[in-house]
Amino acid sequence: MIYRGLNEMSEDKSREVSRHQGKGRSSFSGKVGYVLAVAGSAVGLGNIWRFPYLAAKYGGGIFLLVYLILMLTFGYALIVSETALGRMTKRSPVGAFQAFGGGAPFKLGGWINAVIPMLIVPYYSVIGGWVTKYLFEYMRGSTQALAEEDYFSGFIANGSSVWWFLIFSLAVTAVLFAGVKQGVERVSKVMMPLLVILAVFVAVYSMTRPGAWEGVKYFLIPNPENFSWMTVVAAMGQMFYSLSIAMGILYTYGSYIKKDVDIEKSTAQVEIFDTAIAMLAGLMIIPAVFAFSGGDPDTLKAGPSLMFITLPKVFASMGFGTGAGIMFFLLVLLAALTSAISLAESGVSTFEDQFGWSRHKATVVMGAIIVAFGALSALGFGVLDFVSLFGMTILDFFDFLTNSVMMPVAALATCFLVTRAAGLDRIAGEVMQSSAFKRRRMYNLFMKYLAPVCILIILVSSIANVLGLISL
Ligand code: PHE
Repeated sequence: MIYRGLNEMSEDKSREVSRHQGKGRSSFSGKVGYVLAVAGSAVGLGNIWRFPYLAAKYGGGIFLLVYLILMLTFGYALIVSETALGRMTKRSPVGAFQAFGGGAPFKLGGWINAVIPMLIVPYYSVIGGWVTKYLFEYMRGSTQALAEEDYFSGFIANGSSVWWFLIFSLAVTAVLFAGVKQGVERVSKVMMPLLVILAVFVAVYSMTRPGAWEGVKYFLIPNPENFSWMTVVAAMGQMFYSLSIAMGILYTYGSYIKKDVDIEKSTAQVEIFDTAIAMLAGLMIIPAVFAFSGGDPDTLKAGPSLMFITLPKVFASMGFGTGAGIMFFLLVLLAALTSAISLAESGVSTFEDQFGWSRHKATVVMGAIIVAFGALSALGFGVLDFVSLFGMTILDFFDFLTNSVMMPVAALATCFLVTRAAGLDRIAGEVMQSSAFKRRRMYNLFMKYLAPVCILIILVSSIANVLGLISL
């Protein structure tokens, strides 16, 4: 969800100061603005579409447990680092990585952070296209048809899915051209609470279907038998994705905030909020797999299509199903649109800053990247379905490449930037300008040893797994 220029936030803030003549209130509004902006960027398709299918596929409760542990340790340390580095250097990733000297390896570290959003937004837009199609079909009243067994696989195999992708990407590019982000943003702020209310309602409905309780248990109670090394790999990738870390975004956000924002506290708030939404989505979708498909292992392992297979069954079975379907897909579309805009915007500003391109040129190039890579991902389910990259569809491949390979590398680069170039004490100094930094010892331990070692192990093993060298 969202993108709100935080530099505008600081303008609001100075206006507030003169209006209220007091520091307390103005800084409060600045802090809340920051949390909302980051939480807004964090909540998107990652929470609603990606988290439930990964949790279903990689072991339910055990996935959730690993995810929570990683988020509270790695995730916490990385959010704090990226935000502090951004605020300290006042630059986006490429600049921040060069701010301390350090030469070519660091330059590369900055670039990998900056390139990731450019590779995510194309396939993100393919999913956005699917959401648009489903919204359209609910508006036409195709509630029963959508719930049929092979509807989704038929749709993505059919060339028309590319058109929906193009509609979605056109909307994203048009917003970037017109520069009306703010308007989109304002709408999405109203939509966010509505999304939460609707999600609670659907989750309760889905959890109370006959047979659904098994699903609730599967999702919430860790079962060590379901553990595999891929659980850790997937949970780590998801943690990066969902919290918008290891993709340069938080450097940029950090560079906009003032010194009085409590980085530690806002990080905790963002984590709680983002995880709550993801768990809600899990409770909507996973119990439904058990209620409507009897916990069929094939459905549990459906992957990216899970949301589009199970939710229509839920909607088709309930009273105001068509209305609920329209509302749900509309809200998800909005979350997807604002997230895609935010990702694409990050690419556009990298082009502007690093190559000195005009906004116009940068937007055209970004649009071309979206269409080229996105069309490949969309067609990978249709005419290009013979293409298999290391056993994955094209979309899955881009998802794997960014989340399980590039993001760990980007996170590793941040660890080195913190420990080798900036220094842990300087980071602590930055954070402590406005925060007690209670978890400083844990933070140091993670950045110095645990994070780099674990990231390396996970990275190497996930690549070896894909190359068929080992089997996880
Ligand atoms: N975190 C977002 C999600 O969960 C994805 C995203 C990343 C959006 C970065 C914007 C910026 O969908």
